[in-house]
Amino acid sequence: MPKPVKLMETLIHDVVIIGAGMAGLRAAIAAANLSNKVDVAVISKVYPVRSHSVCAQGGSAAMLREGDSNDLHAWDTIKGSDFLADQDVVEYFVKQAPQEIIALDHWGCPWSRTKDGKINQRPFGGHSFPRACFAADMTGFYEMHTLDGKAKTYDNIKFFDEWFATSLIIDDGFVAGLTALELKTGRMMIFRAKAIIMATGGYARIYEFTTFSHTATGDGMTMAYRAGVPLKDMEFIQFHPTGMVPSGILITGGARGEGGYLINAKGERFMKHYAPEKMELAPRDIVSRAETTEIEEGRGFNGPYGPYIALDLRHLGEEKINERLPLIRDVAIKLSGVDPVREPIPIKPAAHYSMGGIHANIKTETPISGFYTAGECACLNVHGANRLGTNSTSDCLVFGTVAGEEAAKFSLSHDYRDVSIGNVLSEEKRIFDEILGSEGDEKVPVIRDELRRIMSEKAWVFRKGNGLESALKAVQELKKRYKNIRVEDKDSQFNTDLVGALQLDFTLDLSEITISAALARTESRGAHTRLDYPKRDDENWLKHSLAYWSKEGPELRYIPVTIAKWPPSARTY
Ligand code: FUM
Repeated sequence: MPKPVKLMETLIHDVVIIGAGMAGLRAAIAAANLSNKVDVAVISKVYPVRSHSVCAQGGSAAMLREGDSNDLHAWDTIKGSDFLADQDVVEYFVKQAPQEIIALDHWGCPWSRTKDGKINQRPFGGHSFPRACFAADMTGFYEMHTLDGKAKTYDNIKFFDEWFATSLIIDDGFVAGLTALELKTGRMMIFRAKAIIMATGGYARIYEFTTFSHTATGDGMTMAYRAGVPLKDMEFIQFHPTGMVPSGILITGGARGEGGYLINAKGERFMKHYAPEKMELAPRDIVSRAETTEIEEGRGFNGPYGPYIALDLRHLGEEKINERLPLIRDVAIKLSGVDPVREPIPIKPAAHYSMGGIHANIKTETPISGFYTAGECACLNVHGANRLGTNSTSDCLVFGTVAGEEAAKFSLSHDYRDVSIGNVLSEEKRIFDEILGSEGDEKVPVIRDELRRIMSEKAWVFRKGNGLESALKAVQELKKRYKNIRVEDKDSQFNTDLVGALQLDFTLDLSEITISAALARTESRGAHTRLDYPKRDDENWLKHSLAYWSKEGPELRYIPVTIAKWPPSARTY
């Protein structure tokens, strides 16, 4: 048994999963299922079914039909990634995806069905076969409720809802535990674990206009980075072509999959100029660049919130919209004042996904023994420089399973490691003295909004070297100002002011890394478009970036991309 740390209460579990979204829940089920001897804990800052995964709308990609094949799914994914995906990982991913869809089916997921009772599949951007399994336009919601229900059938999974993890504790290259705040009491606790899985999701809340929930602040990515694990390919942020104006709420790509058109203010389906074959069903990086170009060249609609593009669904008819896209009809009416049955929906590109994340291999192992990662916070090299729609939820399912099984196996063959009191004391000092106790005059929301403005102006769909340089300086300045914050609420119970300050701290590092990696990559590939380097440069840049923590800021190194069957070629649609 581990030696107890006296300083504060210590909880002990074989496998601790941080994050209860789709990857976290799937990992918990896989770990608990591997052996009932494995005692699993799931820590989440929100209740599991309030995780951002419930916002996934359009579907989960998997090869289920004759006419489709694993090779075709792999090829679409690799071409979509602009050849930055590791091809061995993609091949594994597409092979495993179908069984995950079937498992969810058996656990009760209410997939939309064809007339003969099969799981229905719709077309989606960048996929050359209709392979997005869907549950109307609330796929993530139904998948999450299915996983949550299944996880709760295991006696060896314990949930810690509304707990905020703050740091990892490492012992000589092995993971030893973590620190977390119980939000209900404000107490800091130590979790000791033989294995930890980070599954905390993405960080697109560094932008103003985003499809992301307010909770998506990349906490786990920064925790891993500060613990010495590099973050990979962080320059690649995905912009979804249909963020609804003005809220940024997602209008699913499934709307285009069902036949929706994108039109400019001249009433023209402008995608014919950018992707004449695939039109609205080109990959997201291409559609977002096309929309931005239309807007910048003056062909957008003008509205009270600035120029926008229109998504026209009227020709689909009320019956189809109600059957396939009921959620987006509802949100368009309530939050944009537009009924898509009668009027086009105002949309524009919105920050939606990070292709980058915690560096890990095909087995979800990070460079720290016993530390695994899955879901959007991880970078296992499936999506390269641009992810295809509906590959993300499938990724969470496939690699959530891998992480759960690997972590459980590790925990069965390893003992607990020592938790250094020094580590815990310095984390306690950071949170309670330097952040909660700080009596400076800077306000957290002011720095947060400034950060989002900088990222939105300088590290958006189109980027330039001088813009990125000035953004880097500005973010570094914000990091200095952060040291002088004041958290107004000094109370211990449900201190959301403190949570906001901790999240801002995490996002400042992530923004600095994103900009640094984008500045260094002097080419355009996938979602990373440099106006000053407009071409893909395979000779110099067919490689993954790794950002390591250092006192002076992120230190960049590079590793090769694994190419198997598909050598890089021109990417046209
Ligand atoms: O458009 C959507 O429904 C989003 C899907 C995804 O990001 O995979």
